[in-house]
Amino acid sequence: MLNWIERRTGFVSMTKNFLTEDVPGGASYWYVFGSATLFAMIVQIVTGIFLTFFYAPSAMTAWESTKYIYDHPFQHAVLSIHYWGSSAMIALVFLHLLQVVIWGAYKSPREIQWIVGVLLLLVTMVLGLTGYLLPWDMDAYFASQVAINLTLNVPFIGGWIQQFVQDGTTMGTLTINRFFGLHVWLMPAALVALVAAHLAIFRWNGAAGPPVEDPRPLRKGRFWPDQLFMDTAASFLVLIGIVALSAFWPPFLDAKADPTVQFTPYPAWYFLDLFGLLNLVPGNLEIFGAIIVPGIATALLLLLPWIDRSTTRVLGSRKFILWLLGISLAIIWWLTVWSQLSIMGKQAATPAGGPPAVAAKEQANMTRSGGSNISPPSTTAAVSPAAKAGQAVYSQNCSSCHGAAGAGMPPNFPPLDGNAFVTGDPNQVILTVLNGKTGAIQVNGTNYNGQMPAFKSMLSNKDIANVVTYIRSALGTNHAGAVTPADVAKAKK
Ligand code: HEC
Repeated sequence: MLNWIERRTGFVSMTKNFLTEDVPGGASYWYVFGSATLFAMIVQIVTGIFLTFFYAPSAMTAWESTKYIYDHPFQHAVLSIHYWGSSAMIALVFLHLLQVVIWGAYKSPREIQWIVGVLLLLVTMVLGLTGYLLPWDMDAYFASQVAINLTLNVPFIGGWIQQFVQDGTTMGTLTINRFFGLHVWLMPAALVALVAAHLAIFRWNGAAGPPVEDPRPLRKGRFWPDQLFMDTAASFLVLIGIVALSAFWPPFLDAKADPTVQFTPYPAWYFLDLFGLLNLVPGNLEIFGAIIVPGIATALLLLLPWIDRSTTRVLGSRKFILWLLGISLAIIWWLTVWSQLSIMGKQAATPAGGPPAVAAKEQANMTRSGGSNISPPSTTAAVSPAAKAGQAVYSQNCSSCHGAAGAGMPPNFPPLDGNAFVTGDPNQVILTVLNGKTGAIQVNGTNYNGQMPAFKSMLSNKDIANVVTYIRSALGTNHAGAVTPADVAKAKK
């Protein structure tokens, strides 16, 4: 049977050759970063394909189809894995690159392999960037807007690039389609092609091995079975890590994108350093933060094999490069932390209920057909965990009518912020959320006579307790007491 296949395809000897590749210095866990990155990429491709079965790229459907995914446990689990998988992939690419730099494995004859590797890092980051927009929630919209506007800084062709990715004067369906095309077709195709080249060149050059003066005395190991076992073990660990993160910290869908609201976006963690850099430079010098510094950094990275031309790979003789690496890492770390803190500061400066009062008022005065509002910033000091969890429930179930800041939409949907009913008898509020409400009411002098849906069968007691706690204690200017799931259970009787 094997012979039959071998004679027609050559697959058997190909596999044999593949498995018996030499590993200098013997199999080692030091070699697993590349294969673990490859594994994370496969996870992303598999989960990504699955998600396209449910996702619909357009301004009318992007958020709604993402919400559908969030509302179905299995789809949500796959989405969470895709979300954490992207972080894992970036982290692994970065670790892999770090090791190559420390070991000097980019040196001749591996320059092209190195360049392809740097391109892979860039493609992975573009994948992260384009994927960020797709859920089309507040954070996705405003973070991507920052990124899109940055393209204007590119000399000569900036306007053209911006026009291409945004397609139109404002972000909308065409923008989603551009990002979708880049995210699911162009970038993955580039990724797969580059990985294939990277691996083919790797096979040609062989593994670089650890940085020792004379590689000859190194015991030669084999890929099969030792290295393959270690690679598999590492990939398995990566999988466990991704699944655990997805289970314990699934991503969170903000309210649907609404350009009319003020919102402090939060970039993916791997862009925090660039975000920090942008905040650091004054507005009129944005081009430095957006193009010049990152451009120089990328060029230095690409040219590394020609900057560090010595033939030795021993760490002791490459102090300059290692210092350069250390300083770069320190700067990246510092920018990341600084940027994180400044975003948290900005979000905390916005009142717990969401946008500043002025924005909330404007929002209340606007008559809009579809309801969709910002979810209040997620990092606010002095908000109880229950209220924080309630905030998530609120932005998914209530903000579409009552507004993210609880300002409502007079004269159709009453405000919940500054509403005496909400901060009054907690039992009545619970009953309203459980059973809904119809009939004429008056809030702050405006008459409402609409239909508040019943959430009894849609939300758990805990979710209802959390959301009531949130609207009573942390929404806008409300500061009334919390309620517990036991209160909800009692009200149900
Ligand atoms: C489809 C739109 C809609 C959604 C979604 C919605 N509400 Fe309402 N809500 C209303 C309307 C309309 C009223 C006013 C009902 C009336 O006129 O009797 C109302 C009334 C209320 C009231 C009573 C206000 C008062 O002054 O009597 C509370 C409390 C409330 N909603 C909380 C919530 C919470 C919490 C959620 C999310 C779990 C939510 N609502 C989701 C439309 C909505």
